[in-house]
Amino acid sequence: MRLLPPHALLSLCSAALLCAAGVRAEEEYEPIARVPARARALLHDPSHHGVGVLSTIYPDNHTDEALRGAVCSGAEYFAPCGPEGDLVFIALTISQNWRNVLYSASHNATFSITPDTSFSSPDARHTAPGSHDWSPARPAWRRGMPSKPRMTLYGDVHELPRGSPEAHEAARCFLHLHPDARHWADGSRDSPHEARWVRLRAQKVYRVGGFGDESRIGWIDIDAYRKADPRDAGLGPGIEEPAHHAPAALFAENMPAPAPLIFQ
Ligand SMILES: *[C@@H]1O[C@H](CO)[C@@H](O)[C@H](O)[C@H]1NC(C)=O
Ligand SMILES: *[C@@H]1O[C@H](CO)[C@@H](O)[C@H](O)[C@H]1NC(C)=O
Repeated sequence: MRLLPPHALLSLCSAALLCAAGVRAEEEYEPIARVPARARALLHDPSHHGVGVLSTIYPDNHTDEALRGAVCSGAEYFAPCGPEGDLVFIALTISQNWRNVLYSASHNATFSITPDTSFSSPDARHTAPGSHDWSPARPAWRRGMPSKPRMTLYGDVHELPRGSPEAHEAARCFLHLHPDARHWADGSRDSPHEARWVRLRAQKVYRVGGFGDESRIGWIDIDAYRKADPRDAGLGPGIEEPAHHAPAALFAENMPAPAPLIFQ
C-alpha cells in the first residue's frame, strides 16, 4: 500500500464511508512536539527485538565490478547504548556490509528500524492506557505496517577502541539486551570471527510515523533528536527497556553456556 499525499487523503475523507471507518476522533493528528521523543522511543521498542537493517555502499574497487557502488543491506542487532540516540553494534570484519563501513573513507552507514509489523500487534499510540488491543473502531487496513512508525538513521560509524571504557560500556549494555551475542562478541572464545564494537552517530533522521493523515512524516531536527527523552513520547507504559531481546528460557534449555569473555 502506498502512502497517499495529504490532498488525496482529504478527498478520501470527503467520502463518508471512509471517514466513518477512519481514525477515532480522540486520536488527534500526531503532535509535532512528540516526534523527536517518539523517534528515540522507537529505539527501545521491544517489538523489533533490537533488529534493524544496515545499508552500505560497495566500494569502487570491489572485486565484483557489477557490485561497485551498489547498495548492500542486511539485518543486524543494534542497541540504543550510545549517548544522544547513537546506536551500538558488533561489526564482524567478515561481513561485507561492515567491511563497506569499516574500510571506507567516510565510514557512513544507513540504518532503518521498523517495529513489529503484525496486524495483531497494536501500535502503542493506539492503545488505551494499560490495554494491549487496537480500538475496536480501528479498521483492519489501518493496523498493518504502513500505519506504524519506522525510521532511517543516516550516520557515521566509529570503532570503540578495544579495552577502552567506551568499549566496556558498549559491551555491558549491548550484551544485556542481546545475551546470545556473547558467542560472537569481541573476546568470545567460541567465535572464529574478528568482532569490533562500533557506534553509529546519527547525523540525519527520517521518520515515517504512519499514515499521513494521522502521523508526522519527515526529517527530524537532529539536535531535537539528540536531546529528546524517550519517556516524553506520550506512549503510556509501553516503552520500558526490555530486560533482553532473547527469550531467557531458550537460553537456559537449548543453548550452551556462553564462553567466558576475555575482556571481563
Ligand atoms: C580497495 O581499496 C581499499 C582502500 O584503499 C584497500 O584497503 C583495499 O585493499 C582495496 N581492495 C581491493 C580488492 O583492492
Ligand atoms: C558521513 O561521514 C562523515 C564523517 O566521515 C560525516 O561528517 C557525515 O556527516 C556523514 N554523513 C552522514 C549522512 O551521516
